[in-house]
Amino acid sequence: MTNDKKLFTEEVKKLLHDPRILKLGAFPQHHGSNTLAHCLAVAMRSFEFAEKLGWDIDERELARGAMLHDYYQYDIKKEGLTPFQHGTSHPQIAMEKADKDFHLSEKEKNIIRSHMWPLTLGHPPKSKEAILVSLADKDVAAVEFSKPEVIRVKKVVDYFKEFVKK
Ligand SMILES: [Fe+2]
Ligand SMILES: [Fe+2]
Repeated sequence: MTNDKKLFTEEVKKLLHDPRILKLGAFPQHHGSNTLAHCLAVAMRSFEFAEKLGWDIDERELARGAMLHDYYQYDIKKEGLTPFQHGTSHPQIAMEKADKDFHLSEKEKNIIRSHMWPLTLGHPPKSKEAILVSLADKDVAAVEFSKPEVIRVKKVVDYFKEFVKK
């Protein structure tokens, strides 16, 4: 429980080498982004929020929870889901799939299950890490919607290169 960026970045990099995570790049997200780029942006933003707030976190659980928070693995449009249906159902689906593939801790499960809170009222964040991912997800999604040019996939890669350097 510290606030160690090197530890956090190593965890994220480990996940970025996993073919199951890389598959998320095939699923579109908000304008011009895909789920892999989105999850990476959320991971970086959640760590930045922890730094700003001066919160000690579990680097591994924050990295895994953030990188897997949208591990639902489908194309929303192809599934024909309304935004509300998707918004309320995908945290459970993502949590189950991620747990099957990555054997999550209880905290990691809650990070994923609660990231849409308060939309999913009965599943609030129960840790600092879960609060951070929920906040970061909303922040990144707002940028993806309002300024799509800012969070294009290439920009996220550049953001990661800068993130690692800083
Ligand atoms: Fe989500
Ligand atoms: Fe998300």
